[in-house]
Amino acid sequence: MAKHPRIAVIGSANIDLTTFSDRFPKAGETIFGQKFDLGFGGKGANQAVAARLCGADVFMVARVGSDLFGPATIQNFQKLGIDATHVKQIQGVSSGVAPIFVEPDGQNRILVVKGANDLLKPADVDAAADLLRTVDCIVLQFEIPLETVYYAVSFARRHGIRCIVNPAPAHPIEISALAGLDYFIPNESEAETITGMAVRNPDDARKCAEKLLSGGVAGVILTLGSNGSLLASRKSVEHVPAFPVKSIDSTGAGDAFIGSFAVFLAEGLPEREAVRRANLYAGLSTTGVGTQKSFYDRSRYDAEWAMRNKSS
Ligand code: RIB
Repeated sequence: MAKHPRIAVIGSANIDLTTFSDRFPKAGETIFGQKFDLGFGGKGANQAVAARLCGADVFMVARVGSDLFGPATIQNFQKLGIDATHVKQIQGVSSGVAPIFVEPDGQNRILVVKGANDLLKPADVDAAADLLRTVDCIVLQFEIPLETVYYAVSFARRHGIRCIVNPAPAHPIEISALAGLDYFIPNESEAETITGMAVRNPDDARKCAEKLLSGGVAGVILTLGSNGSLLASRKSVEHVPAFPVKSIDSTGAGDAFIGSFAVFLAEGLPEREAVRRANLYAGLSTTGVGTQKSFYDRSRYDAEWAMRNKSS
């Protein structure tokens, strides 16, 4: 039987305010949107939920604000069976929020107000150290302070724990600060912000991944939306195609990829196979509206996987 993975996510929790519209207003203009959705989000929380729905034991380290959203976010983790012992409410600040705009083709634009996420500090990693030492994988993103990300990466390295960094939203960083990291997983625009190299086609993606690897990270996975992913290490570079899906909202697809990839890998699947499965998990998440609420649970996912991999 597959191993039951233990995944820790040190990261953000937001409330997503998603508006669907045929187009978006120009400066000074008011127009009507078509639909609105309020949901739990945040890249860290989404990745934790994806990992949990894929069957892992998940531990969240996060900060929420002293507003209505803070306790609701903690309750959402608990309801999903995610350990929220290290999710604390901070007085006097707002929770993270994300107004999101989705266009008819499913593409999204996201504005994040970090709020309490910005107060997750290296000392909070230390406070969770006893727990973090017991996990198979630590997952990080860039919606918390960079100093906390660097600190957690070095904690993972010291303790021999697999570590994944999703540099979203992208900041220009010194990639060598992440030397030795197991997996660096940006999408095209994040990779472009970090390397200064445009990613317009598979060849660009390959060159960009090589530049990131030359900074010292051990593995790079460039997620390419409907074009799948590029899996690169110092030994090989390989394109892993996506599965066809009818996409209506791509918000959170990268998070679905990362949370599920962490689980598939910790279950002992070979890297390429874990990426292939995560490609499908991410693709399926775009067939529903919102982030966490569009993620498949494991039995639904396994049925879809089996159906798409029937030998003919
Ligand atoms: O990746 C999608 C997420 O980005 C949303 O849930 C939003 O909160 C922002 O963090």
